[in-house]
Amino acid sequence: MSVRRRLVIGNWKMNGSKAENEQLLSDLVKLQNAAAANQAAELAVCAPFPYLQQVADILKDSAISWGGQDVSEHAKGAYTGEVSVAMLAEFGCAWAIVGHSERRAYHGEGSDVVARKAAAAIAGGITPVVCVGETQAEREAGKTLQVISSQLEPVLALGADAVTKMVLAYEPVWAIGTGLTASPEQAQEVHAHIRSLLVQADAPEQRVLYGGSVKAANAASLFAKEDIDGALVGGASLVATDFQGIANA
Ligand code: PGA
Repeated sequence: MSVRRRLVIGNWKMNGSKAENEQLLSDLVKLQNAAAANQAAELAVCAPFPYLQQVADILKDSAISWGGQDVSEHAKGAYTGEVSVAMLAEFGCAWAIVGHSERRAYHGEGSDVVARKAAAAIAGGITPVVCVGETQAEREAGKTLQVISSQLEPVLALGADAVTKMVLAYEPVWAIGTGLTASPEQAQEVHAHIRSLLVQADAPEQRVLYGGSVKAANAASLFAKEDIDGALVGGASLVATDFQGIANA
């Protein structure tokens, strides 16, 4: 019997403003307090870097944790525009998303860089949320599991000590922000594959989140699948009731 606690992480991407964040977070805290007694899921938000202090101030006494949407592979130095794990830790971050498909597609991040970022996060005491996922073309070519394996290869090669400090997220690129969700069966097939790789890596109980147009309406059927341990949520994480609805699912 698995003891993996469900985890729902909001990825705000490049959205928000001080006023909007204030509203969203205070609504979330209220909803969370109301739901706390009967909700088993752990909740987190990953905000744009400039707002981390604001997020920390509002969430510090809540059960909701927070994180960054990326982290540098480097500890410090001449890396203009980058943010280090020590900086994230100073703002109380528990999480750093690494290898999101938008970083891979728009910033040319390959799986080796993603693995180094995951290692840097772990070294700094922050849990990396390592994202993998195939494109529509890769799925149509029957290459989904092969793509997932190769994206995870350098990450799992970090060894069991590292992998047991990670969360993985399966996010089919064709489902992100498109309103198309993988069916629970399609998602479970990939999650089971990832689980088998985790078993080989000696980290069988790591949580594997699903991401890609998760909404309150489709969350329960995804979470019912054996190897789906929660969700990484973009669009729906920007509306407090939608996000809390996913956590309640
Ligand atoms: P979406 O984004 O929920 O808006 O599809 C998910 C993600 O990119 O993490």
